Amino acid sequence: MKEKNESMMELISQLAMSGLTVFAVLFLMLLGVLVLTAIFFFFIDIAQSKDSIRRNYPVLGRFRHFFSELGEFFRQYFFAMDREEMPFNRAQRDWIDIVSKTGSRTVPFGSTRNLVPGSVIFANGMFPKLDEEHTIHVPKLIGEEGSYSYQPKSYFNISAMSYGSLSRPAIKALSYGAAMGQCWLNTGEGGVSPYHLEGKCDLVYQLGTAKFGARNDDGTLNEEKLKKVCENEQIKMIELKLSQGAKPGKGGILPAAKVTDEIAEIRGIPKGEPAISPNRHVDAKNHEELLDLIAKTRQSAQRPVGIKMVLGELESLDSFLAAIKKRGLASAPDFITLDSGDGGTGAAPMPLIDTMGLTIRESLPYTIDALEKAGLRDRIRVIATGKLITSAEAAWAFCAGADFVSSARGFMFALGCIQAMKCNENTCPTGVTTHNRRLQRGLDPQNKAVRVMNYAKTMRKELRMISHSCGVDHPNQLTRDHAMIIQLAGRSKKLSEIWPPTLPS
Ligand SMILES: Cc1cc2nc3c(=O)[nH]c(=O)nc-3n(C[C@H](O)[C@H](O)[C@H](O)COP(=O)(O)O)c2cc1C
Repeated sequence: MKEKNESMMELISQLAMSGLTVFAVLFLMLLGVLVLTAIFFFFIDIAQSKDSIRRNYPVLGRFRHFFSELGEFFRQYFFAMDREEMPFNRAQRDWIDIVSKTGSRTVPFGSTRNLVPGSVIFANGMFPKLDEEHTIHVPKLIGEEGSYSYQPKSYFNISAMSYGSLSRPAIKALSYGAAMGQCWLNTGEGGVSPYHLEGKCDLVYQLGTAKFGARNDDGTLNEEKLKKVCENEQIKMIELKLSQGAKPGKGGILPAAKVTDEIAEIRGIPKGEPAISPNRHVDAKNHEELLDLIAKTRQSAQRPVGIKMVLGELESLDSFLAAIKKRGLASAPDFITLDSGDGGTGAAPMPLIDTMGLTIRESLPYTIDALEKAGLRDRIRVIATGKLITSAEAAWAFCAGADFVSSARGFMFALGCIQAMKCNENTCPTGVTTHNRRLQRGLDPQNKAVRVMNYAKTMRKELRMISHSCGVDHPNQLTRDHAMIIQLAGRSKKLSEIWPPTLPS
C-alpha cells in the first residue's frame, strides 16, 4: 500500500513538473513574439516620417493615440462633472434619458445648477392658476387663412435630420414616435424616404440647397417632382433650407461611407460618393429670387412654405423683410426656422461649427423685433432651434418670442444617443447615425418610438408647467418679462430690459 502511494506521488510530481515546463515554454514563446513584434514596429516607426512622435519615440509613441482615445471615453464616465461636458452635459442627457423612459422625472434635495452670468431663471407669478383654471391651448396656425395653411398639433417638434445622416431604424422610430407624440417630423435635406412615411406622422419636407427629391439636373426646382411628392397628405409644409447653424455658407455633407445604394436612389445621386449640396440654392442668389422661389414652391406644393436659416449679417434680414413688404404680405414665407450658430449636424468643418453664425440667444430676439418693426410679426411664424433640448431652455425661447421650438439632438438622445461624437464616421455605437446593420440592431424602432413620444409629451407638459408657474396658461403667452437673465454679482435683469419690446415702425 505504501509503495503504491509513493509511486502515485511520483507520478503527480512528474505531471506537475511537465505542466510547469509547458507553461514556461509557452511564456517564453509569447515573450519572444512580443519582443520580435516590438523590434519590427521599432524599425517601422523610425523609418516612417509622417508621425513625429512615433519617429522620436518608436513603439512607445503608439500608445499615445490609444490613450487619447480611451481618455475621451473615460472622461465621460468617470471624470467629467454633471454639468461640464459639451455640447450637452450629463445632467441634460440624463434628463432626456429618464423622461423618455418614464415620461416624467423628479430630482431630490436641491438644485446642482450653478447660476453664472447669462443663466436664465423664470419669474414666477404670485398667484398661479389652479390646475382646473387652465384653458386648453391650440398651437398657432402656420400660413394664411383662406390660402395654404397648417394647424400643427404641437408647439414642440422634431427638427430636420435626413435619412442618411440618421439610420433607417432611427427614422422609423422618429416617424412612429412623432405620430404617437402628436408632433411633426422634419425630413431633413435628404428627401422623403419610405421610413419617414411609415409611422403616418405629419411631415415637413425640407428642400435643402440640392433639393433632393424635387430637383432638375442643374439644381433648380422641378415643380412636377415636387407636386408628385406632395400628393402624399402627410406632407404638411415645405421648408427651404438656406443655411444650418453648424455650417452656414456650406451645403449639406453626407460622407461617402454613408451613401448606401438606397440613399443614393432616394436622393438621385451616385452610390458610394460623398453627397455634397451646393452652398446655396442655385436659383436664389438674392432676396428677389428667394421670394420667387418661395412663391413657385408654394404654388406647386400647395402647402405653407418657410425658410430655414442661421442669422449672421443682420442688415440682410432687415432688407429681406423690406423686400417682402414691397411685394405684399402674400409673398412672405409662412415661417422662418431660425437655427442657432451652435446647432448640430451629422458632419461639418470645425471653423464653421465653432465660429460661424449668431447663437439663438441673440438671433431670436433680434429676428422677433425685426419682424415686429416690419409689421410682419403676425404673418410669419418663428420656429426656434438650437440647444433647446430641455423644457427650461425651450421656455426661454417662448419668452423671447418664438411661436414654436424644434429639436434635433434632443430627439437623438430620446433615440438612445450617448454623444459618442461619431455621427460622421458610420460607426455610431447606438445605431442612431450608422448604416452598419450590426450596429443598427441595437436600435429597436418600436421601443424607441415610445421614448420619442414620451420626450415630446414631457416637453409639452413641462412647458405648460413653467407657463403656469409664471401665471399664464401656455408657452405662447410667455413674454420677455417672464425670463430673468443673471448678471454679474448675482443680480438678474428682465429679458425685456435687455431686449425692450419693439413697435411696428
Ligand atoms: C445628425 C443631424 C443631422 C441634421 N441634418 C439636418 C438637415 O438635413 N437639414 C437641416 O436643416 N438641419 C439639419 N440638422 C440641424 C438640426 O435640424 C437643428 O437645426 C440643429 O441641430 C439645432 O437643433 P438641436 O440643438 O436641437 O440639435 C441636423 C442635425 C443633426 C444633429
